[in-house]
Amino acid sequence: MTESFPADWLALRAPADRNARDRDLERRFAAWIAARLEEGRGQVRLLDLGSGTGNNHHHLAERLPGAVVWTLTDIDPDHLAHLSTLESDDIDVRPLDLSDLDVVAAALPEADAVTCSALLDLVSEDWLNHFCRLIAEAGIPLFAVLTYDGRIRFHPSHSLDIEIRDLVNRHQRGDKGFGPALGPLAAGRATAILQKLEYSVATAPSDWRLGGPPHSGEGDLIQTLIDGYAGAAAALAPDRKDAIDAWRLARRDTDRLGVGHLDLLAIPQKM
Ligand SMILES: C[S@@+](CC[C@H](N)C(=O)[O-])C[C@H]1O[C@@H](n2cnc3c(N)ncnc32)[C@H](O)[C@@H]1O
Repeated sequence: MTESFPADWLALRAPADRNARDRDLERRFAAWIAARLEEGRGQVRLLDLGSGTGNNHHHLAERLPGAVVWTLTDIDPDHLAHLSTLESDDIDVRPLDLSDLDVVAAALPEADAVTCSALLDLVSEDWLNHFCRLIAEAGIPLFAVLTYDGRIRFHPSHSLDIEIRDLVNRHQRGDKGFGPALGPLAAGRATAILQKLEYSVATAPSDWRLGGPPHSGEGDLIQTLIDGYAGAAAALAPDRKDAIDAWRLARRDTDRLGVGHLDLLAIPQKM
């Protein structure tokens, strides 16, 4: 079943995402676009998958060369309604169910590159293999950022932290609408698959470093994550519910939280 990601959750995480993104990969993607424009292309067309409320576009648009046109896609009707308010000469919005790779394949001929943020950890190994073959056949790059990689660091530490993290990571591998999700393995698998398909792949950490100066206004995000982690852990280990509840209460004093992500830029070696 497709997992839903409410707009208020996407808004809560957006500032942390912005701080975490790897600037060097962004610049390399911008340079790739600039080179296409210098070759005489009037514009470069980006297909953004699982756009949500448009955070990836919002962040990248001002950091990429001007002549970029975007297609923003999602399956969630609320997100699509919000995205439609952004439509303009350089933003097209399209409902698209990513779990149907025939639909994705049909959209690729109109794209010069594919982008996504906070998406790859939701997909299955089969989906990722098939998707990577499709973009390789189309000969287009992938810029996929903020893929969760399984690392969580709490401060101050608590004796249950490792158990909770391991349960959260197992939970991340449940079905999010694409078959069993790759969760923390996704960026590594994408790297291996795309390298085999003769892509040049670069990855870089884009970790959330929440709390503490200069980000001490991130208490709501920290507590929302703690509650989410406790819920995910208890769903997989109901017999540990009392211990998990005690952990959640003790975690009210969490002042810093690190969450590991990876950004990935993959460019076909032969274009
Ligand atoms: C974690 S959110 C990320 C949203 C956005 N990219 C961002 O960074 O804020 C994942 C997005 O994927 C979308 N999604 C999940 N399953 C989908 C599917 N089968 N087809 C299209 N979009 C999907 C969700 O609706 C959600 O907007």
